[in-house]
Amino acid sequence: MTALKNDRFLRALLKQPVDVTPVWMMRQAGRYLPEYRASRAKAGDFMSLCMNPEFACEVTMQPLDRYPQLDAAILFSDILTIPDAMGQGLYFETGEGPRFKKVVSTLADIEALPIPDPHKDLGYVMDAVSTIRRELNGRVPLIGFSGSPWTLATYMVEGGSSKDFRKSKAMLYENPQAMHLLLDKLAQSVTSYLNGQIMAGAQAVQIFDSWGGSLSAAAYQEFSLAYMRKIVSGLIREHEGRKVPVILFTKGGGLWLESIADAGADALGLDWTCDIGNARERVGNKVALQGNMDPTVLYANPEAIRTEVGRILASYGKGSGHVFNLGHGITPEVDPEHAGAFLRAVHELSAQYHE
Ligand code: CP3
Repeated sequence: MTALKNDRFLRALLKQPVDVTPVWMMRQAGRYLPEYRASRAKAGDFMSLCMNPEFACEVTMQPLDRYPQLDAAILFSDILTIPDAMGQGLYFETGEGPRFKKVVSTLADIEALPIPDPHKDLGYVMDAVSTIRRELNGRVPLIGFSGSPWTLATYMVEGGSSKDFRKSKAMLYENPQAMHLLLDKLAQSVTSYLNGQIMAGAQAVQIFDSWGGSLSAAAYQEFSLAYMRKIVSGLIREHEGRKVPVILFTKGGGLWLESIADAGADALGLDWTCDIGNARERVGNKVALQGNMDPTVLYANPEAIRTEVGRILASYGKGSGHVFNLGHGITPEVDPEHAGAFLRAVHELSAQYHE
């Protein structure tokens, strides 16, 4: 394997010294980029991009080619590949987000769910990882990812996106054993899926717990964090002679950072509702932090973006352990020039915080 030419992302996740604060953007390959929209039109639809390793590689590389400041690549795929491989029949209705042909409603439905084999059932993702690694040729590290069990369960039980999680929360409270069985199957599936990605070449992995923040404090511990802890304890933590850092991102998890920091991961993702300096004090030396600019700041002009970047860097303060990112995915309406101004500001303004 080629040596990494830029490893500041991996170094910051392990709190090792860096020259400037590394940066990437959640959803960096996406609809705000005209080249992404062109590739999607060529492929036909979103799932065809994900399922064809050449297309997945092409769109993964697009933001890196446009923005030389990016310090990491993220596999182009989706968190809903696992429920699809469990037989739920994922499809995307234009403008309506993800949908499933089959919905999980009863204990019998859950008992019948298979645990996907990453190589047999999700081979297209493993192939995308190895194709992207080859194409990156050591430029920057490649991030693999998965959804958290709770976040995946919400989509499987609701049959798609939801505002109030009516069915999944009803199941959680009425039939906790059924929900636990579903989460346990998902935790097993995510563990082998992420280990497959690591063996195929992913150099760090992130678990997206996009809807953990919708839970009560008690339910979060029992139905989301416990399963992420289980996954982390089953992951391959070293590969190709290097540590493989694990990032946990619970959107809306700001109130629970101390317990998330205890789950065994190397880093926590932060949304924009908490102050990163305060978060750093709360988690101490246990984990690195990734985040946490409000993605809507990118609608403002480049001067305002630069001011906000400066404020976040100053709040984190001196030293390593910070990966700059948005607090959630970049949105389709953002001007690509503004994303460029954001990335440049992170590198320019952060040098003063590192020796
Ligand atoms: O970050 C990256 O660039 C990597 C690619 C990536 C995608 N989805 C591509 C995508 C990642 C990491 C994801 C994760 C994902 N998918 C999450 C967790 C992160 C989060 O946002 O909280 C979730 C909840 C999903 C499920 C999902 N996939 C939804 C809700 C949607 C519809 C979004 C919308 O605005 O319509 C998707 C589709 C999707 N996944 C797109 C992309 C680029 C847009 C599809 C398109 O091109 O039409």
